[in-house]
Amino acid sequence: MDTEKVKRLVGIQVVDALVHSGMKLGLGTGSTAAHAVNRVGELLKAGSLGDIVVVPTSFQTVVACQRAGISLAALNDPAVDGRLDLTIDGADEVDPHWNLIKGGGAAMLIEKVVAQASERYCIMVHSSKLSSRLGEKAPVPVEIVPEALVTTTRRLESLGGKVELRMATKKAGPIISDHGNFILDVTFAEQFDSERLDAEIMMIPGVTANGIFTRRVDDLFIGHPDGRVEHKHR
Ligand code: A5P
Repeated sequence: MDTEKVKRLVGIQVVDALVHSGMKLGLGTGSTAAHAVNRVGELLKAGSLGDIVVVPTSFQTVVACQRAGISLAALNDPAVDGRLDLTIDGADEVDPHWNLIKGGGAAMLIEKVVAQASERYCIMVHSSKLSSRLGEKAPVPVEIVPEALVTTTRRLESLGGKVELRMATKKAGPIISDHGNFILDVTFAEQFDSERLDAEIMMIPGVTANGIFTRRVDDLFIGHPDGRVEHKHR
């Protein structure tokens, strides 16, 4: 089964299994999350889901929700009060301890804020995203204010990373994040301590976010190429 079909199956199964009426729900970014957004929209239209409050993690998700007829709230709204029941999101890499690399869609700043606000955190991935150590398959994305390009690059290199400024494809120059920042993709050839590297990167002036996620993942849904969807619960 092709990867996109597998991601669609995973997105649908996650929503069907975990999303209930009355919930305050965070919706992630990326192609798998987009399938979950569409499923939420379908269930709302069918009337089998109601009274949910949805907080998006990116412009991509805002647009997808609007197209699917899902009304949106902000984490700061009094009705949300910075607390969500559940967030469902994709990831670019998952290690055996369920630490993650995220930010392939440049959305990790708000994805991390929303994840932190959530009581229950569910990650849904294609099985190709599983790895034996973080950094094996994906670079670590680091979001920086544009003014800090040279200084941050130098510091990340001193931490052992190979740094690449992420370039846009349908715009000249670097991609600009939802918050007007640059994204550096940093490859680490050696195994690293996720919590330590996360903390070291966040100490660099000008860094607004990085893609190492170490908060507890409660549910991991894995889609396999044969169409099987595995649900692992912590
Ligand atoms: C967005 O910035 C990322 O964190 C996504 O969650 C990630 O890229 C998901 O990828 P898929 O498109 O494979 O779901």
